[in-house]
Amino acid sequence: MTADNGCRQYPIEGLKLGKRYYYKCGDSSLKALSKEHTFETFPSSSPNMYPRRIAVVGDLGLTGNTTTTIDHLSQNNPSIFLMVGDLSYANQYLTTGGKGAPCFSCAFPDAPIRETYQPRWDGWGRFMEPLTSKIPMMVIEGNHEIEPQVGGMSFKSYLARFAVPSEECGSNSSFYYSFNAGGVHFIMLGAYVDYNQSGAQYAWLKADLHQVDRQVTPWLVAAWHPPWYNSYSSHYQEFECMRQEMEALLYQHGVDIVFSGHVHAYERMNRVFNYTLDRCGPVYITVGDGGNIEQIDIDHADDPGKCPSKSANIPEFGGVCHLNFSSGPAKGKFCWEQQPEWSAFRESSFGHGILEVINSTYALWTWHRNQDIYGENSSGDQIYIVRQPELCLMNIGDVTPRTCSYSSPQCSSSNQCASQGVQYIYLFSLLIIGSLCVILGELWKTMFFW
Ligand SMILES: [Fe+2]
Repeated sequence: MTADNGCRQYPIEGLKLGKRYYYKCGDSSLKALSKEHTFETFPSSSPNMYPRRIAVVGDLGLTGNTTTTIDHLSQNNPSIFLMVGDLSYANQYLTTGGKGAPCFSCAFPDAPIRETYQPRWDGWGRFMEPLTSKIPMMVIEGNHEIEPQVGGMSFKSYLARFAVPSEECGSNSSFYYSFNAGGVHFIMLGAYVDYNQSGAQYAWLKADLHQVDRQVTPWLVAAWHPPWYNSYSSHYQEFECMRQEMEALLYQHGVDIVFSGHVHAYERMNRVFNYTLDRCGPVYITVGDGGNIEQIDIDHADDPGKCPSKSANIPEFGGVCHLNFSSGPAKGKFCWEQQPEWSAFRESSFGHGILEVINSTYALWTWHRNQDIYGENSSGDQIYIVRQPELCLMNIGDVTPRTCSYSSPQCSSSNQCASQGVQYIYLFSLLIIGSLCVILGELWKTMFFW
């Protein structure tokens, strides 16, 4: 750490992939060294090698709920830690007395700027050290990292404290980047910088997706802070503009899973594209339930009286593109009247998730709730995510939705769609065979008669 509250970052060069290293921090000439730490570098890019366990959490903060989340997460022994934004909540720590406020601008309308209270950031860093000293934490910024200051400054703490491989992946922006870990290509997108199709981030994303070799990294996992698919009242359709700009590009390139936070609850979506069930769309998962200082979100936009007005949920960056649905049970309406078919499972509990990629086809996703007695069988939600690229031949430039035409609300994976498809083919075959039997029977009767 430095006297100006900045952090010194020392890139270590020459490390090899898939190796364990041991290190100490400090100045050996002063005999002021930390205790020995150890970490393991990512496995090399290969369809046969995967990170052992990928932990995913968002909106963490530093509360009693946070400590439970991190305690459980550590017991899960992950090899990578994806932090999907809203890290320390230092931006409102002093103003709210450490308690947070569900609507900061409502509770403190006279606060012209947000805090950038470095002791809170330091405390959060010390709290996380036992985990982050041995496990790579890959971050993406959330709205609580903006910390707008006088003179138009923003993101100063975030940029000073976290290093990301932006140069290595050609983005040259710390707000969006990509990296490989074994057979997984991760894309981390910025929701609080220009995401329009004419902008630098979109151009970089397009180039990055184009160079991905799915023979080497079969899995494509994306993450950004505010969810595009969200059935809670909180932040409902808040980043609809970003979805409209970028969703088709991610769909064209067969993104498998998308992780987000921002909403302080858990929600897992069925495969979806453009609000329509689609066997080739990504599985969207919201894990903004790390332990923030605001509160857990419990209201659903489809609950009676809980559909937010279109003037609510204004994003802290970008435009407002709230829309009424153009088809389906909520056609012409802003909110559904029951849990939308694209929302597979939702629950208002704190927790974290673990993704275990097994091979190029299967990955096991488990959401662990804080209130459960922790153990192997403590899962609030669990599902195998199955890649079946042969059903979704990627055709760059073609954005025609490959709609799961025999879909149902339970049609949450390509496998389920495929198995239903097989059932339909089976019934069709029975119909054809039955008809042939009837025709042959009539022919036989005709011949017998003659
Ligand atoms: Fe957020």
